[in-house]
Amino acid sequence: MTMDAASNINLEQMDVDATIHAFTSLPDHAETGPHIMTSADGIYLTDSKGDTYIDSMAALFCVNAGYGRSEIADAISEQAHKFAYFHTFAGNAHEQQIKLGDRLLNILPRHMSKVLFASSGSEANDANVKLAWMYQHIRGKPNKRKIIARDMGYHGVTTVAASMSGLPLMHQPFGLPLPGFLHTDKGHYYWEGRPGESERDFSKRMAANLDALIEAEGPDTVCAFISEPVMGAAACVAPAEGYFEEIQKVLKKHDVLFIADEVITGFGRLGTWFACEKYDLKPDMMTLSKGITSAYVPLSASVISDKMWQVFADDPENMLFTHGHTASGHPIACAAANANLDLMEGEGLIENAARVGAYFKEQLIDRLADHPLMGEIRGDGLLLATELVANKQTKQELDIEWDCSHRLFDLCLEEKLISRGFFGHNSSSFSPPLCVTNDEIDEIITRFSRGLDKLTDELVRDGRWKPTG
Ligand SMILES: Cc1ncc(COP(=O)(O)O)c(C=O)c1O
Repeated sequence: MTMDAASNINLEQMDVDATIHAFTSLPDHAETGPHIMTSADGIYLTDSKGDTYIDSMAALFCVNAGYGRSEIADAISEQAHKFAYFHTFAGNAHEQQIKLGDRLLNILPRHMSKVLFASSGSEANDANVKLAWMYQHIRGKPNKRKIIARDMGYHGVTTVAASMSGLPLMHQPFGLPLPGFLHTDKGHYYWEGRPGESERDFSKRMAANLDALIEAEGPDTVCAFISEPVMGAAACVAPAEGYFEEIQKVLKKHDVLFIADEVITGFGRLGTWFACEKYDLKPDMMTLSKGITSAYVPLSASVISDKMWQVFADDPENMLFTHGHTASGHPIACAAANANLDLMEGEGLIENAARVGAYFKEQLIDRLADHPLMGEIRGDGLLLATELVANKQTKQELDIEWDCSHRLFDLCLEEKLISRGFFGHNSSSFSPPLCVTNDEIDEIITRFSRGLDKLTDELVRDGRWKPTG
């Protein structure tokens, strides 16, 4: 039990009494209570019981610079003392936001042109959809409104972002998706590839399916396609060979905009500033958040290309851009982002992510690929996942009802490792802070292996699974 020293109040009970938690079963939480974290440093987190964990997830794929960076904390404090806030509506600006906008354009792909700030990835995705609709409106194509996303993609929780997300459990309670939000294949070669089909041919088939969907809907009604370059919430599904090359051909053919949701992959996670560089993507819009401040304070950005900016700049109706939040371009958030980018550049964190990410995947393969439950080890850079199956040869799934993913998460927690569990598939993922070292990776894999061995023993003991010849 954690007591608040000043008031002698039980924090667990206060939390249960007062708070609704994200992606949490509300009745279960009332029973089990919260896991309260109290301090953090580097890749380590300590909870209110005094237990210290390795956070192999950088929280939610976001604390890229690592915990406890006083450089970012100082920048936040300095900015709050100097000039905490004024809005950015009606042409108002301030130094940190101006510098950050300029700085982003220097590291983003060269054809990107303007940045619109918000606070969350969801908001930035909603804004990108509005910008896409406005672009089509100004071009005299107001019926080009439909948005296509991928099954199992994750784009956030606001009504539009949740509509784009391809996870049924995010739709059912809310009557989503909204009309006009469609989904195409997930594009996961391991599960959707046909026997004997090459990755290239698979990518062509995925693109042909997208093409058929656009044709069926009517190209004049389709506005944009959104995709994460590596699907994070689907457990680190990297693109099959040629996937985006083929998809981009279809988008171009039908004059459909491409939104690259780089909320996770941006700011070094894959060992490059953005996934666009790595996979040769030419998006019309990009969505950024998370690593932009390493989550020290909320900030996000929607980014548009020159092509789109030219249409807005030449708008014959000269429409007012009626969008923005009170906190858009908040000075404290922009100061945190500038300090965070200083760290990334000054400490070579992106180069470290490339180097250690390669080591991490190699070690996962070396140490775990032969495990009898291991189906796939996948991902790129410091965005990696494992997926368990009942039978490696036939890819027979472990019964989803057993929820092995969350069980493994709990067993890893016993080993003082924070990994990540998933609903609906038997994956675990890793996305540590970009400052992680090879030695820390070895320790992450050791603790994960112990959790996996305990899960294996449980499945055998309970008669749910036995190794196949
Ligand atoms: C790819 C992607 N897009 C958008 C979002 C939504 O961001 P936020 O939670 O800040 O609204 C997330 C969050 O995890 C994400 O992973």
